[in-house]
Amino acid sequence: MLIKSAVFEISNSDVAKCPKERIPEYAFIGRSNVGKSSLINMLTNHKKLAKTSGTPGKTQLINHFKINDNWFLVDLPGYGYARVSKKTKRTFQSFIKNYFSQREQLVCSFVLIDSRHTPQKIDLEFMEFLGVNQIPFCIVFTKADKLTPTVLNRNIEAYQKELLDDSWDTFPDYFVTSSTSKDGRDALLNFIDNINTNFDNS
Ligand code: GTP
Ligand code: MG
Repeated sequence: MLIKSAVFEISNSDVAKCPKERIPEYAFIGRSNVGKSSLINMLTNHKKLAKTSGTPGKTQLINHFKINDNWFLVDLPGYGYARVSKKTKRTFQSFIKNYFSQREQLVCSFVLIDSRHTPQKIDLEFMEFLGVNQIPFCIVFTKADKLTPTVLNRNIEAYQKELLDDSWDTFPDYFVTSSTSKDGRDALLNFIDNINTNFDNS
């Protein structure tokens, strides 16, 4: 898919105030610093559409970006960010969960996992939450450029094993990406394009 336009639409912390248009929407979620905002910039070929930072906790709101005038990419705050106060963390958690459980236009979520890390409880719990609420999701293994192909494959296999041992019957569709080398860009955009083509906006 060719990205002809990518435009910031609105930021807020209330799912009720998200755009009303009935167009398909894809959300990026995962721990702080995993690379959600960088992936949005990589997919859209923009350096600064979504704000990124080496310091965790950069994205603090639900951010809608309209792509090619007919679908949305959504950048979200990270879950489990340790350096904000407990109160702020609870506020993040509640509006993120409200977003996922109430947003009807959300057709697929991407749960980002840093490909260098072993499975973390907070990610497994979030996937469990999506599963229980029947919210479709894929996994995206990020920062693949930081590993050799051998270690990368070993980590992905370990992840698959953990999830299959941990009550999941099948492993979700997954992508491997690098926002620096742009690996995974075509695969992700083709996946989205296929869903967009079949989207019923009635
Ligand atoms: P929050 O908004 O804080 O939740 O973080 P985020 O998940 O949006 O992460 P962000 O995109 O801001 O990236 C965090 C850091 O990781 C930045 O320093 C990025 O440059 C770096 N980074 C993100 N993706 C990649 C990648 O694919 N490869 C490498 N080498 N660095 C990456
Ligand atoms: Mg971010």
